[in-house]
Amino acid sequence: MESNTQKLIHSFGALADLGQEIADSGDFMEMVRTSLHLLLGTLAIRRGAVLECPSHLETTNCLATWGLSDDYGVQCQVDSKTKEAILQSEGLIAADDSDVASALAELRTQEIELLVPMIVRGKVTGLVALGGKASGEAFTTDDLEVVSAMVRHIGVGIHTHRLLAEVKQQSEENRRLYFDLRAIYRDTVRAFAAAIDIKDKYTQGHSERVGRYSEIIARELGWGEEEVEGMAIAGYLHDVGKLVVERDIINAPYKIDAKQSSELNRHPRAGFDILSPIHHPFADIPLMAKYHHERLDGRGYPDGLIDEEIPVGAKIVSLADSFDAMTTDRPYRKKLPLTDVLEDFRQNTGTQFDPAVVCAFCRAFLNEIEGKKERRLLNLLNRNYDDLEGVTPILNQMLTEFDGAALAAASN
Ligand SMILES: [Fe+2]
Repeated sequence: MESNTQKLIHSFGALADLGQEIADSGDFMEMVRTSLHLLLGTLAIRRGAVLECPSHLETTNCLATWGLSDDYGVQCQVDSKTKEAILQSEGLIAADDSDVASALAELRTQEIELLVPMIVRGKVTGLVALGGKASGEAFTTDDLEVVSAMVRHIGVGIHTHRLLAEVKQQSEENRRLYFDLRAIYRDTVRAFAAAIDIKDKYTQGHSERVGRYSEIIARELGWGEEEVEGMAIAGYLHDVGKLVVERDIINAPYKIDAKQSSELNRHPRAGFDILSPIHHPFADIPLMAKYHHERLDGRGYPDGLIDEEIPVGAKIVSLADSFDAMTTDRPYRKKLPLTDVLEDFRQNTGTQFDPAVVCAFCRAFLNEIEGKKERRLLNLLNRNYDDLEGVTPILNQMLTEFDGAALAAASN
């Protein structure tokens, strides 16, 4: 048979376990107050307090009181010498009979009779201060056993809570740093993209828009957030190699000749060389820059890769790049009507563009037109186009035409 004392100790144990769960959910102070009230109520003690001794401080922090003035325990000094004396005390400390108690003289002013240290993992976590019993009788051995057990549980609860708070703070700090770094990286890349576009006076904002279109297509393909962000970066940086091409060739207000064209065509490889030494957290950005002018039929440059040799990211950037090129004015021609742009895509799907990428683009476009998705692509386009007449039927036709091919390619 369990003695009453054992039953009490078990119920206190269960309460302390519950206390740890409560500590997890942040209602820690309530757990401490409830534990103190239960301890005082069980033994009919008039007054008491739970004092925490944070390891980095030399004062106590009062977590809960009962029957004492509100400012009780706020000013108690617990320096390292006192903590050492508490560790040596091995258990209960009578309020009038110890070096520790005299160091904590303030405790006695409110008729505290007993100090019970909470020692967890060899460190003073805190103290429970107790007044006398309401009956005026002295504490029995059973009483002190209950007190010790309960105080141990409160101590473990406080220790656990402190550890959780530290872990939480650390992880929040790490999380904040991570997001700061991501934002800095993305802002830096965007600034870089703006620098690339400044060199090309006819295509202001081109890199930024290619980044956004690439992001939209990747999201439509169901890619994860980090991959989508990688595609945005790839779009921003795809033309970075133009920094090594002569400004006159980039800005020529006429169709450039073969020599100038081969000079301009150096830019994907130059982009790869510029980007390769940099560590990019989300995707293989250098390869996407290198292969954004490749074509499925092998007639692209710089390496004449065919279909599956071309990274999907590069295929996405290629479509986004062409879309922005055709929907903005260039030095040698005006922007094309949207129906002509889509017709161009339609004729070149399977030879220049990847059917799966084209379908994702068409779906994203249609979803925005039909109001099923936030207007991202349309907002980018709206500067240049105010009506979308004839666009929906072509998009639907292209989806019917290419979805099968895209699915077949995906299953191979
Ligand atoms: Fe390019």
